[in-house]
Amino acid sequence: MKIFLDTANLDEIREAASLGVVDGVTTNPSLLARETGDPEAILVEICKTVNGPISGEVVATDAEGMIGEGRHLASLHENVVVKIPCIEEGLKATRVLAGEGKRVNMTLIFSPTQALLAAKAGARYVSPFVGRLDDVATQGMELVADIIQIFDHYDFDCEVLAASLRHPLHVVEAARMGADIVTMPMSVFQKLLKHPLTDIGLKRFLDDWEKVKAQMAARA
Ligand code: E4P
Repeated sequence: MKIFLDTANLDEIREAASLGVVDGVTTNPSLLARETGDPEAILVEICKTVNGPISGEVVATDAEGMIGEGRHLASLHENVVVKIPCIEEGLKATRVLAGEGKRVNMTLIFSPTQALLAAKAGARYVSPFVGRLDDVATQGMELVADIIQIFDHYDFDCEVLAASLRHPLHVVEAARMGADIVTMPMSVFQKLLKHPLTDIGLKRFLDDWEKVKAQMAARA
C-alpha cells in the first residue's frame, strides 16, 4: 500500500519524506490556501521533494477550463497528477486528459457509482472521501470497500486512493481492505509510528545498558 501525505506544507513534506516511506502527496485548493507563496511554485517544490505522484487540483468547473488548467499543471513537472472533481464536466475533462496520457486523480468521490464512472472515463486514481462521510453519519470506509470490490471484477487501470482519513484506524482499515493508496495529514502520519510501549521499552533497554557500562567500568 502506498502512503501519500495530504498537505501542501513543505516543512511537513520534507520531514515525512526523510523517513523514506512517503510515496506521493495530495494537495487541494484549501490546503494550498493555508500556505504562503505562489501555489504553482509550491507544487513544483513538492514534486522535487517527493519523487512520486503529486496531485494538483483544477479550479475551473467547465470541461474546457479544466482541460486547460490540467494541461498547464501537468506541464509544471512530470510528477504532477491532475486532480479533477467528480462532476459531469470533470468526466469530460478526464476523458480528454487521459487520452493525452495525463494522469487524473478524480476527487470528491462519495459513491461507488461515481468511482465507476471516473474509472471508465480514464481516471488513474479515484479518491473516496472517508472522513467527510463519517462526518455525516455514513460509514466512509464502506465506500472504500465497495469500490475495491467493484474494481476487483474489472480491469480498470485505476487505483483506489482512500482520502480524507482522520485517524490511524482509517489507515488500518484501508490496508485490511487492500486499498492501493492512503493519503493523510501529517498529524495522522505521525501517529502511525508512535507507540508508548516502544518508548518505554527503548528507555528500559538503554537504562539497563548504562548499568552494564557502569559495572564494567567499576571492574576495570
Ligand atoms: C484528498 O485528496 C483530499 O485532499 C483530502 O483527503 C481531503 O481531506 P479532508 O476531508 O480532511 O479535508
